[in-house]
Amino acid sequence: MVVLISGSGSNLQSLIDQQAEHGVNIAAVWSNKESAYGLKRARHAGIANGFLDPKSFADRREYDAALRDLIEKDQPDLVVLAGFMRILSDEFVNHFQGRLLNIHPSLLPKYPGLDTHARVLASGDALHGCSVHFVIPQLDAGPTIVQAQVPVLSDDTATSLQARVQQQEHRIYALAVQWFAQDRLHMQDQQAWLDGQPLPATGVVIDA
Ligand code: GRF
Repeated sequence: MVVLISGSGSNLQSLIDQQAEHGVNIAAVWSNKESAYGLKRARHAGIANGFLDPKSFADRREYDAALRDLIEKDQPDLVVLAGFMRILSDEFVNHFQGRLLNIHPSLLPKYPGLDTHARVLASGDALHGCSVHFVIPQLDAGPTIVQAQVPVLSDDTATSLQARVQQQEHRIYALAVQWFAQDRLHMQDQQAWLDGQPLPATGVVIDA
């Protein structure tokens, strides 16, 4: 698989740590941010990696075409967005549809977009979490594969909540990647299927 990042890469690290166990191989890691710490993690693990500078391209279409070509050099079965904080064009998403996964820090369809932890606290929700989903052109709206629920505590801040949600992100991303690698997971008719059964809108739900 190929992993796209923009930042710290803690999800990437967990995928690196578990790749042998899960029978997957990370062929390359690409970032749209030069300073992304995840690039150092990839280097440390001996994985090909690089920064593709959005400023070197005229527009999103050109950038995404270059990124697509870079990824396709490895002919990956799976492309994993692990904190890749850049909107991808419909052309890019359609090209990789069915083999493009994302992790989002909320119980989708609640709280698509940014600042999910602060928004959950502001709403007074008792339950938060994270979701792994197939990517479709509409942002954070593709079929959900797996969710982990995280209780919101009375003294939680956005930072404390984020830390607990991220622990679960690492868990459920590894699980979804493992299912995909075992050929148990696929997308069909805009739905996620596991072991030949269509999954409910929530995907598989896991307690923290
Ligand atoms: C994660 O919280 C993920 O849900 C969001 O971006 C963050 C990336 O964190 N899409 P990291 O770079 O994997 O540490």
